[in-house]
Amino acid sequence: MTARAGGTTLLSSVDLTLHPGELCALIGPSGAGKSTLLKVLLGIREADGGTVRLGAGPPGAAGPVGYVPQRDALHGGLTVERTLHYAARLRLPDAPAGERQNRVLHAMGDVGLTDRRAVRVSRLSGGQQKRVSVALELLTSPGLLILDEPTSGLDPGLEAQLMALFATVARQGRVVLVATHAMESLGRCHVLVVLHEGRVAYVGPPAEASGYFGVTRFAAIFDVLKPGRGGEWHERCSSRCGAFLARPARVPDPGASA
Ligand SMILES: Nc1ncnc2c1ncn2[C@@H]1O[C@H](COP(=O)(O)OP(=O)(O)OP(=O)(O)O)[C@@H](O)[C@H]1O
Ligand SMILES: [Mg+2]
Repeated sequence: MTARAGGTTLLSSVDLTLHPGELCALIGPSGAGKSTLLKVLLGIREADGGTVRLGAGPPGAAGPVGYVPQRDALHGGLTVERTLHYAARLRLPDAPAGERQNRVLHAMGDVGLTDRRAVRVSRLSGGQQKRVSVALELLTSPGLLILDEPTSGLDPGLEAQLMALFATVARQGRVVLVATHAMESLGRCHVLVVLHEGRVAYVGPPAEASGYFGVTRFAAIFDVLKPGRGGEWHERCSSRCGAFLARPARVPDPGASA
């Protein structure tokens, strides 16, 4: 898939397949095209070439997709439960009240905020507020959950907690795609995508990325992504990452609640 703006190519030949149950981390230098890629997948902006398919169809036709933008859009004066309750009324207008309440309770439980349900959002920590944003997206049971840098500004402990939460959400049979700078937690992802200058420089298991880039820690990947080398890394990826793209779908985890 390709995306352009004016005369500039923002994304070029992005070839990526994600299966239900997978947690995928998207990393890359600032300006690499991560947010642009997420917007194309969300259908917020159109691809200029190639195809984007969610499930059997194009974006928008595959049922609800969850999107947690970088900045939380929450009302600080409402409690956690009220926030979810109002969102459920907006997003599930045809659902009976009992069903909506059920979903609110489930979403609060999934993000571990049940004991904070009566607390105002403004009194929550940054990580707890982010979990409210994630819970809002879980209300509609999306098959695809997209998060744009959800852990920036959080301490490493909270960052790890949130990444663990995303892994749990993925285990429920969803695709979770997260643009992140949380290098410490990349190991718990199933798929790592490295974007450089609008091209995929690597796609594969996180554990194989250090060998591929010739580094000893994930953060050092950024040192080898030199300006002007996007094409070179992309060619390398095309010759070495193809087999991974053809991997089979994951077997659903029977232990995870849907
Ligand atoms: N509508 C647009 N028109 C022209 N250029 C754009 C447009 N949107 C984004 N860009 C450019 O595309 C490139 C990729 O931007 P994008 O926001 O996707 O990067 P990013 O990888 O998310 O970066 P960051 O880590 O800073 O969030 C940047 O050079 C940006 O200036
Ligand atoms: Mg971005």
